[in-house]
Amino acid sequence: MEKEYKTELLKVDRNNFDPACLLPAAGLLAAGELVAFPTETVYGLGGNAMDPGASQRIYAAKGRPSDNPLIVHISEKEELLKVGRDVPEIALRFAERFWPGPLTLIVKRAEIIPKTTTGGLDTVAVRLPSDEIARALIRLSGVYVAAPSANKSGRPSTTRAEHCMEDLDGRIPMVIDGGPVKIGLESTIVDCTNETTEDGVKKIKPLVLRPGYITLEKLREIEPATEYDPAVIARVKNENIKAKAPGMKYRHYAPKGAFVIYEGDADRVIARINEEVGRMKALGRKTAVLATEESKDFYDADIVVSLGRRNNEEEIAARLFDVLRSFDEMGAEAIFGECFETKGVGQAIMNRLMKAAGYNIVSCNDITGKK
Ligand code: TXA
Ligand code: MG
Repeated sequence: MEKEYKTELLKVDRNNFDPACLLPAAGLLAAGELVAFPTETVYGLGGNAMDPGASQRIYAAKGRPSDNPLIVHISEKEELLKVGRDVPEIALRFAERFWPGPLTLIVKRAEIIPKTTTGGLDTVAVRLPSDEIARALIRLSGVYVAAPSANKSGRPSTTRAEHCMEDLDGRIPMVIDGGPVKIGLESTIVDCTNETTEDGVKKIKPLVLRPGYITLEKLREIEPATEYDPAVIARVKNENIKAKAPGMKYRHYAPKGAFVIYEGDADRVIARINEEVGRMKALGRKTAVLATEESKDFYDADIVVSLGRRNNEEEIAARLFDVLRSFDEMGAEAIFGECFETKGVGQAIMNRLMKAAGYNIVSCNDITGKK
């Protein structure tokens, strides 16, 4: 049964806050209740990771399938060894270099974390966020905090407290408002349980299951053997490539309107999108384009929103989910987007865009002009 809450919005000024103001939130977590809170990546929907009942409440509040595991958030590096078991040396090196920060490590699960939290898996995803509000909250709660992104399942992740209220008002007792997040895309997930044998010697080959702000290039500075999981770079939804992160198999980040993305030379993409915009307008549909500073003036759509300058990937990342949500608010029915280069943070941006578009990618450089 779903419980109806009067959701409290707790405003916290991140530049000047006394951790004691988080005590009511920490108390809710300790009591098995849920709290949405900011992290440097996106807002999280937190609950006690050691309490199967709290994890079930998280799945219910999000409308998320319970085979999709939750990330366990800790407040000190050493706690990796408490929630994980037989933690390999490579995971410790990644933690040493990138924690606190937007990186999630998958290791074997310790008994203290129930299977309900890990969607039935024997592995656990662990993250130490750098956001000071998040860390203080976890520390004060006295528990490890399971937290998926604080959105209704399938919708774009939440980068502001208002988005959390949109999706979760009445479903949880509290949302902490710490202002807009810094990064705007979820953490990079690296699987540190993937064993290979080279010349008879067993070795961990780290796999990136979800690209993010910590890029493959940066991870390779620590371990050159690090690779993308094939499902990450696939440009089509291929049933034969099984996503190792269960969540990556579900429709995700999707705006309510139909969304298609276009790749190819800029002038061809603009021409092709304008053609489709014209067709959709003729059908009476409200059209929207996800553009960039360089292209925004060339579109004829009802709504044109720029994500930022193409060479400023961080700005584009920070605005993406915000803009996708704003299209829902404005009632966009047919949405068209541009593609981005897949180097650096661009890989994470394209990964989210492809999912949001349900892998509807049109190549504009084909001679036929059709996919
Ligand atoms: O930045 C983030 O990571 C945010 C903030 C709140 O920390 N959290 C987040 O959680 O994005 P969520 O639940 O929306 O995404 C977690 C992803 C899912 O795709 C899930 O399937 C995968 O991590 N995952 C969790 N545990 C896993 C495991 N043991 N093995 C493989 N994938 C796992
Ligand atoms: Mg999510």
